[in-house]
Amino acid sequence: MPKLKIAPSLLSSDFSHLGEEIHKVIEAGADWIHLDIMDGHFTPNITIGPPVVSALRQHSTVPMDVHLMLTNPEDFVEAFADAGADIITFHVEAARHPHRLLSRIRDLGCKAGVVLNPGTPPDDIEFLAEAVDMVLLMTVNPGFGGQAFIPEMLRKIELVRAMLGEERDLEVDGGIDQQTAPDVVRAGANVLVAGSYIFGSDSYLEAIESLKV
Ligand code: DX5
Ligand code: ZN
Repeated sequence: MPKLKIAPSLLSSDFSHLGEEIHKVIEAGADWIHLDIMDGHFTPNITIGPPVVSALRQHSTVPMDVHLMLTNPEDFVEAFADAGADIITFHVEAARHPHRLLSRIRDLGCKAGVVLNPGTPPDDIEFLAEAVDMVLLMTVNPGFGGQAFIPEMLRKIELVRAMLGEERDLEVDGGIDQQTAPDVVRAGANVLVAGSYIFGSDSYLEAIESLKV
């Protein structure tokens, strides 16, 4: 399996000190910074856009993992690549031509990944598996931090790991904490996104360490 990586989601951080929060989690051992981009259409919530990602890029010495929760990801990949994204993922439920969009993201110089909502079957990406650098499996429904992990997703992680083989990254997002981390890693995930668990803790260092199972 590829190296275990921890990707703190800034969604639960102090939005009035985003640059500082990035420095703190990197100091505490974060491997990537996970940025949740929501449009109020695909998700019942709105977050940040390319100018904020661009402003934050200079604060990060680790890869910026941009998770697009947008109804029209095709229209925005270029702006996020220009803003400094290293990895761009989009929802397979939202893209009209996901295979084409994966190539486009790679052409823009970024790693490309698809995201599946909890209700989306892994079969939907069977014929994309060769075209992706990474798959992100939602382990909660997208929109908010602090929701409970959906246990049925463990079987989906196993199925997608079998599709991807042992070399590529399989990321999970939602409800990851000290309790759920060992289960998702055992099932085959190797990139753990965690928002409320890390940013809600007194010690980012201890929280990140506790996820490295
Ligand atoms: C949810 C986002 C997540 C969110 C996870 O739509 O994609 O990245 O921040 O939050 P926690 O870790 O609190 O479940
Ligand atoms: Zn996310």
